[in-house]
Amino acid sequence: MKINNEKTDILSVLFTEEQIAARVQELADQLSADYAGKDPLFVCVLKGASFFYADICRKMSTRIFMDFIAVSSYANNSKSTGVVRIIKDLDKNITGRHVIIVEDIIDSGLTLQYLTDLFNSRKPASVKTLTLLDKITEHKLVIAPNYCGFEIPDHFVVGYGLDYSDYYRNLPYIGVLNPTVYQ
Ligand code: PRP
Repeated sequence: MKINNEKTDILSVLFTEEQIAARVQELADQLSADYAGKDPLFVCVLKGASFFYADICRKMSTRIFMDFIAVSSYANNSKSTGVVRIIKDLDKNITGRHVIIVEDIIDSGLTLQYLTDLFNSRKPASVKTLTLLDKITEHKLVIAPNYCGFEIPDHFVVGYGLDYSDYYRNLPYIGVLNPTVYQ
């Protein structure tokens, strides 16, 4: 791993701060309309979704509730096995609640599929999924998010919460990582 600096590590900016903010506002407007009067519970999947979650929650014009879950994929070499370990579960009981799972990115879809199945087993009123980025890959599971910010090609992206080995999360934009950093 060769972390140099932002100028050389980021190949290109995929979405600027302004583009992200505009799309977040659009998503919040749509969600505010769809969930008016339903008191939805927004669930943040730590850590990557943290900035997106904070921004979209503040743009909601209807009453919402907030909770957090931390998960870790069991890796099998570089391939995810689809088994997700819960590191921190929800604090709240979701039975009878309208739940929205908030993710930063869908790659294989395994994490979101696992969480959707887990939450559905707890008898909520509904479970929907919201992701900022949906990566279009050949190995994707058949899981389509209910709400999506942007579809992106199969690049390694960082910033606005997304990391490489915990680096770059605090970049205010989303950029494509230079392969020289991880090759
Ligand atoms: C990332 C991302 C999703 C998951 C998507 O989390 O935040 O939770 O991977 O990948 P999948 O669709 O292939 O399951 P990561 O495990 O990197 O943790 P982080 O959010 O703390 O960065």
